[in-house]
Amino acid sequence: MISERVGNIAPSATLAVDAKAKQLKKEGKNVLNFGAGEPDFNTPENIKEAAKKAIDKNITRYTPIGGIPELREAIAKKFREVNKIKYDASEVVVCAGGKHVLYNIAMAILNEDDEAILPVPYWVSFEEIIKLTGAKAVFCNTDSHFKLTAKDVEEKITPKTKMLILNSPSNPSGAIVDKNEIEKIAKLAVEHNFYVVADEVYEYFVYGKKDRVSIASLNDKIKNLTVTANSFSKTYAMTGWRVGYCGANKEIIKGTENLQSHSTSNISNIAQMAALEALNGPQDSVKEMIMAFDERRKFMHKRLNEMNGVSCVEPEGAFYAFPDISETKMSSMEFASKLLEEALVAVVPGSAFGSDKHIRLSYASSMEDIEQGMDRMERWVKGRLL
Ligand SMILES: Cc1ncc(COP(=O)(O)O)c(C=O)c1O
Repeated sequence: MISERVGNIAPSATLAVDAKAKQLKKEGKNVLNFGAGEPDFNTPENIKEAAKKAIDKNITRYTPIGGIPELREAIAKKFREVNKIKYDASEVVVCAGGKHVLYNIAMAILNEDDEAILPVPYWVSFEEIIKLTGAKAVFCNTDSHFKLTAKDVEEKITPKTKMLILNSPSNPSGAIVDKNEIEKIAKLAVEHNFYVVADEVYEYFVYGKKDRVSIASLNDKIKNLTVTANSFSKTYAMTGWRVGYCGANKEIIKGTENLQSHSTSNISNIAQMAALEALNGPQDSVKEMIMAFDERRKFMHKRLNEMNGVSCVEPEGAFYAFPDISETKMSSMEFASKLLEEALVAVVPGSAFGSDKHIRLSYASSMEDIEQGMDRMERWVKGRLL
């Protein structure tokens, strides 16, 4: 008999689709997988070399819970230079991936019956993480381009509001919250005294207009109420290494370290050395990846909009397209299951992100796969609508 806490968790739909697609592939089927949220690029050579050297030098022991001082220092420097947030190393903690950061932070901040405002559509794990703490996820609308506005947030604030999740660029929609709205949201957080968890894991994947702003950079008051969460997974194609980090006030960092001291302890020392190299070494691979994704983004967006019954808002960031499929009259689950079974194209149903009218496709796959996938999907949708 398992606990109610765990019994109530919905399994990750993105991982479920990925598993089904991989299973079909194993059976010899030519599946095109747009389900997974990870770059198709390999981890850059210099980062892999740093890990190999760490092993050879026997850098294989326990480290301080929140990360080795050099890495925390390098992360603080990155926060100052890239995000214009003045965290110092004691305001940084390293966890086992971005997901683990968010879990630890939610545990450190939320009490039972607190409310956490969650803009829709949202990344699958946010809702479950909030639920696990015993707090309530309060869903908040976004506009027709999935952009969050301060007005929509304000409508959801109650005396129980303890946190707002701000994921920009967003998974699944790719939307970026406008700078003037970020400024207004910061004012609301300060006025009503709630935390903002700014999930910035897609910060580099911004195409077109480059005015994305980190909310904690605006002033000291909002900095003190913000947890700026990030990860090496997407930026450096390091999903399997499990290195995430956040900047926050010292009380939250201490709480997170205490929690982590009784669960994972420090993350792998070898992965920390790799992450240090990722920050200190050349950044060319990041630029290459962004350029490739931008090309694929434009192509996928165009092809989706050419399909009958499908319409797609242009994604501004991250590496996902989130088309509306409601004209096909299928639920998102029906659409995704049948598309996989009948056309061998894997996508994630929007219901997992709080919208049954949409599906999510990752364009972090090769251009050849995207071309073929769009052809298959176009033919399949056409056949369904006949
Ligand atoms: C919005 C968002 N936050 C956090 C993560 C966590 O990434 P990781 O745990 O691999 O660092 C993801 C991964 O898909 C994500 O999409």
